[in-house]
Amino acid sequence: MATSRIGVLGRGRLPIGEPVLRGDDLGVLRGDGLFETMHLRDGRAWLRQEHLARLRVGAAAVELTLPADAALVELLDEVADGWPTEVEGALRLICTRGPEGGGPPTVYATLSAVSPTARQARRDGVSVATLSLGVPAEARPELDWLPVGIKSTSYGASTAARRWAARVGVDDVLWVSSDGYALEGPTANLVWLAGKTLCTVPAARTGILPGTTVAWLLAHCGQVGCTAAERMVTPADLREADGVWLTSSVRGLVAVHTLDGVPLPVSPRTGPLQDLLGFPLP
Ligand SMILES: Cc1ncc(COP(=O)(O)O)c(C=O)c1O
Repeated sequence: MATSRIGVLGRGRLPIGEPVLRGDDLGVLRGDGLFETMHLRDGRAWLRQEHLARLRVGAAAVELTLPADAALVELLDEVADGWPTEVEGALRLICTRGPEGGGPPTVYATLSAVSPTARQARRDGVSVATLSLGVPAEARPELDWLPVGIKSTSYGASTAARRWAARVGVDDVLWVSSDGYALEGPTANLVWLAGKTLCTVPAARTGILPGTTVAWLLAHCGQVGCTAAERMVTPADLREADGVWLTSSVRGLVAVHTLDGVPLPVSPRTGPLQDLLGFPLP
């Protein structure tokens, strides 16, 4: 996604090449910050309140002081203003701890067109390989010093996993705990269908990111005749499931058509679930 627009809290919209961070910003030096990526559809950020709520929970967990929601909304509106309604956008809000040695948080927003790859994944699905995360499924929430389930700008593990996926020739990764449970992808939640029950992995129990897309999907899946549940799952269970998908704010819902080299049947519910979420197909 090539960034097309940028706006900084207190400075407004800026030319895209304009510097917005100091060299000693802790967001750069330490990955000390939080972000949210929202789907801009029809010129509006979808689930904006849910994203801002998650950002606030994360900020409390890492003791980061955020500006008031009204200021964040104003910044997002400023960056999105006049964006062509026919172009799907990925609207990012980034809040870092600011300059080393103290200083106000750095808050800025970027806007890009959703990439053709993300749009194609909605239509074609993705191949996924499992990748060990090296910790038991429930270990991280038990560490009372460790903030979990936050959307931190420390994305080193996620980008490493995506590079590994590219090296082994798959589209995406599914992290698996050392005790054998499938957890989430580096940028997506896991969703599967067991009969008529649409399931996802419990975030509070495992410390994965509580996804806004999956939360909305499970809250509304009654409209397509499903009930919702949070369950633990193994890759072997997924091979027996009636559908397996990844969800995220930019890609929406994408079918997993291959898991560890084994083809999975693509569920006939893929279309109805995508329609429910309202992400356009290319
Ligand atoms: C690790 C991780 N899990 C899940 C998700 C999906 O969350 P959402 O649906 O809120 O975009 C993301 C999004 O980037 C993510 O980075």
